[in-house]
Amino acid sequence: MKKILVTGGAGFIGSNFCNLSKNKYEIIALDNLFLGDKRNLTPGIPFILGDACKTKDLNKVEPVDYVVHLAGTSSAPMFMGDDLVKGYMNSIESFMNVLEWARKNGAKKVIYASTSSLYGNNPLPLTEDQHVTPLNHYAVTKEVYEHASACYNRVYPEMDIIGFRFMSVYGPNEEAKGVYANLISQFCWDMARGLSPVIYGDGSQTRDFTNVRDVVQGITLAIETDKKLGADVFNIGTGRATSLNEIMDALKKAFENPVEATYIENPVKEGYVQGQWADITKIKEVLGYEPTVKLEEGIKEQVENIRLDRIRQTSSDSLR
Ligand SMILES: NC(=O)c1ccc[n+]([C@@H]2O[C@H](COP(=O)([O-])OP(=O)(O)OC[C@H]3O[C@@H](n4cnc5c(N)ncnc54)[C@H](O)[C@@H]3O)[C@@H](O)[C@H]2O)c1
Repeated sequence: MKKILVTGGAGFIGSNFCNLSKNKYEIIALDNLFLGDKRNLTPGIPFILGDACKTKDLNKVEPVDYVVHLAGTSSAPMFMGDDLVKGYMNSIESFMNVLEWARKNGAKKVIYASTSSLYGNNPLPLTEDQHVTPLNHYAVTKEVYEHASACYNRVYPEMDIIGFRFMSVYGPNEEAKGVYANLISQFCWDMARGLSPVIYGDGSQTRDFTNVRDVVQGITLAIETDKKLGADVFNIGTGRATSLNEIMDALKKAFENPVEATYIENPVKEGYVQGQWADITKIKEVLGYEPTVKLEEGIKEQVENIRLDRIRQTSSDSLR
């Protein structure tokens, strides 16, 4: 059985990967619980409380075949104000440390999270060969990951380092992200509490809302492929732009007592992404990826699994 270390394994995407892969692979989840929640993991999945920035913590793990690196400072607001330097340090240091640890321990591949935020307000659909235009520090850290991977792989070509530009990912286990969670989660939680979801502008802005199960599919395909991918990067999305108004329509169908949205003037004056829609031709052709979860189905599941008691009251203080 392939042995896989998942950094950020108690987080949103990491825990979904661990839970859905536990019968297929020998999984070890590592997380410092800065934002993750151990309860996200199915009981029985080996868990190490550790910091991916620290080699001594990674050394608590036996050598593995693959590393799925999802630890890091996972959204743009976490780089605000005094958290800026810590945000950068955590992301870049953990990534470089994981690459070094993985190579020195003979791993075949490192698969890591990049982001669609790299594209800023590029023309749609977003293709991997576009010039990237990060609009915030978070996106810059992911651009660093991609450049560092290319450089690292030129020096050490024996280990593939594959990056995924996740679009807007939604699904279960986002409660620990609190205010940093995806809009679908935030809207669900608001409606479950009888509150009106707040939409910036007229709700016509779009995102390529991608169910986390399809993200897990993409990562799994990258693990399984025999192709030598070097330091390649791929979009993972649905290939479809969905507006916030469409999300509200789906949510209203899923709730017995739906609450209408409140529309306010967009307070974000700079760097707001108006549209997001991935071209997924490359991942389809190279890895055989095909999105499987329909939005209505994913939203219905989400509504059926709301756990308001687990929502973390996050603030930027949590970075310290
Ligand atoms: N969720 C999305 O829509 C999305 C989109 C694009 C990219 N990404 C990227 O995917 C990755 C996973 O995102 P997520 O949504 O699951 O976020 P998340 O915050 O839930 O997961 C990150 C996990 O890493 C842990 N962590 C942070 N720093 C760590 C460190 N130094 N050592 C060990 N653990 C550490 C946190 O505790 C958390 O559990 C992130 O790199 C994020 O930037 C996410």
